[in-house]
Amino acid sequence: MQCCHFKECGSCTLEGSYEEQKAFKLNAISSKFSEFYDKEFEFFASNEKNYRIRAEFGIWHEADKIYYTMHSKNKGERIFVRECPKVCEQIVSLMSILLNELESDAKLKHRLFGVEFISCSSGVLVTLLYHKKLEATFLEHIVNLANKLDITIIARSRGQKILSHELNLIDELKIDGRIYKFHLSENAFIQPNKAVNEKMITWAKINLAKGGKDLLELYCGHGNFTIPLSENFKNVLATEISKSSIFYALKNCDINDTKNIKFLRLSANELISAFKNEREFNRLKDINLHEYDFSHILVDPPRAGLEPSVINFIKNYENIIYISCNPDSLYENLIQISQTHEVVKFAVFDQFAHTHHVECGVLLRKKNG
Ligand SMILES: C[S@@+](CC[C@H](N)C(=O)[O-])C[C@H]1O[C@@H](n2cnc3c(N)ncnc32)[C@H](O)[C@@H]1O
Repeated sequence: MQCCHFKECGSCTLEGSYEEQKAFKLNAISSKFSEFYDKEFEFFASNEKNYRIRAEFGIWHEADKIYYTMHSKNKGERIFVRECPKVCEQIVSLMSILLNELESDAKLKHRLFGVEFISCSSGVLVTLLYHKKLEATFLEHIVNLANKLDITIIARSRGQKILSHELNLIDELKIDGRIYKFHLSENAFIQPNKAVNEKMITWAKINLAKGGKDLLELYCGHGNFTIPLSENFKNVLATEISKSSIFYALKNCDINDTKNIKFLRLSANELISAFKNEREFNRLKDINLHEYDFSHILVDPPRAGLEPSVINFIKNYENIIYISCNPDSLYENLIQISQTHEVVKFAVFDQFAHTHHVECGVLLRKKNG
């Protein structure tokens, strides 16, 4: 990928051709995890450019002009961004037009400090971030701009949120030949690389033979894995800490006509307490956890990985699917989990091309005896 900022921008860190990057990542992960898995590691590549469906830039003001910024490789410094080839085409083609429009509207420009983009099948959402109180007249400005550019705009300031139109972010994912629709939230977790996300879910779905009993999922987000995988199981119980993600997960069940999933807003530790009958939760009043027959558990935790309490809990289950965005915490967790489970599949997903980050998918099965 050619980018005029590569040497200075702190966002892309991995040098070399994409072929070299893939070889580097595959080699790094297969060496790091060789003590847990001695078979072939699968590697799922990214599109080399235009792969990110969300992006955030700072805004810098100089005289009457404004500029997109990104943190520099030199700590504490920023660079002015003229291009960002790793963001998807819809965002690329909008960036300079949007900047010109913002620059020519004094109200929209004043005290603007950041712009976030999310692009999906239903269109582009732009969030404008301000250090000022947003007056009532602001609405007219963002509606006009949103209509002109055919996008949805949210203006945010501390304790304030103004929307140009009702939010209706819907993305479509193609998994194992079927199209799934997902309502996305503007402020909850979204997998950043759509094409690699489709590969991850497809990999998990294909590797989980149909005819599983019930699936328990922790850290489920808006149902990204849950809904496609639900077809492989009788019943699914999926939990997550974010209220907004659960709100969208329920909507996603409806638009995909999925009937066998219960989504619950529970942190991982709350769920464990409920299983141990240590605490009663109103949210669980219509659910008997002990009626499920879970053959599989899926976890996709944040970068910090799994806490010891969660590791002990998941070790009770026959099959574990662990999706990880941090090889270091995954490694630490596997030291514990591999006492009772063996790794049967290991895949590397290049969600973050041109950076050192990788996503991993690991399937584990309980050891005999
Ligand atoms: C890496 S994201 C994965 C989300 C989802 N699996 C997906 O593919 O979109 C991790 C998720 O864990 C949730 N989370 C963070 N801490 C949690 C906790 N202690 N208990 C339950 N969920 C948590 C976050 O809100 C986020 O949705």
